[in-house]
Amino acid sequence: MSDINAIGLHTSSANQLAEKLNELLANYQIFYMNARGYHWNVKGPHFFELHTKFEEIYTDLLAKVDEVAERILTLGHEPLHAYSDYAKISRIQEDTHVHEGTECVRGLVQGYQALLELQRELNSMAADADDEGTASQMSDYIREQEKTVWMLSAYLG
Ligand SMILES: [Fe+2]
Repeated sequence: MSDINAIGLHTSSANQLAEKLNELLANYQIFYMNARGYHWNVKGPHFFELHTKFEEIYTDLLAKVDEVAERILTLGHEPLHAYSDYAKISRIQEDTHVHEGTECVRGLVQGYQALLELQRELNSMAADADDEGTASQMSDYIREQEKTVWMLSAYLG
């Protein structure tokens, strides 16, 4: 068996990256459902702006769920696709019955911080493996989400 995969990467580093990307995928899925819960359950004077903002956020997270899963497939592996698996390995925990606007935003900031940490780990693993595809995907996410954290933090004052 060749130790180089279809896209020219060493299978051993592709294995490690795919495993870590599955961990990232699990975090995205739990975080996505948290954001969806904030969209549904938020109450109070900022309902209209937050309800809309949370929809924008969960829509973006869902797009990234698909991109991360397809990167795993591109590396020659299978993405996890059961919530029971996600719950076992996600650093981000389920956040339920949250109604207060600032509490929802705080949950988002914490979730993004966990994603940023994982994506930085992946970015450096990918660089070591000469996997520019994964590294640049992670860089794009990091840059975007750092800005989102700034904005959400500004909202919190
Ligand atoms: Fe909705």
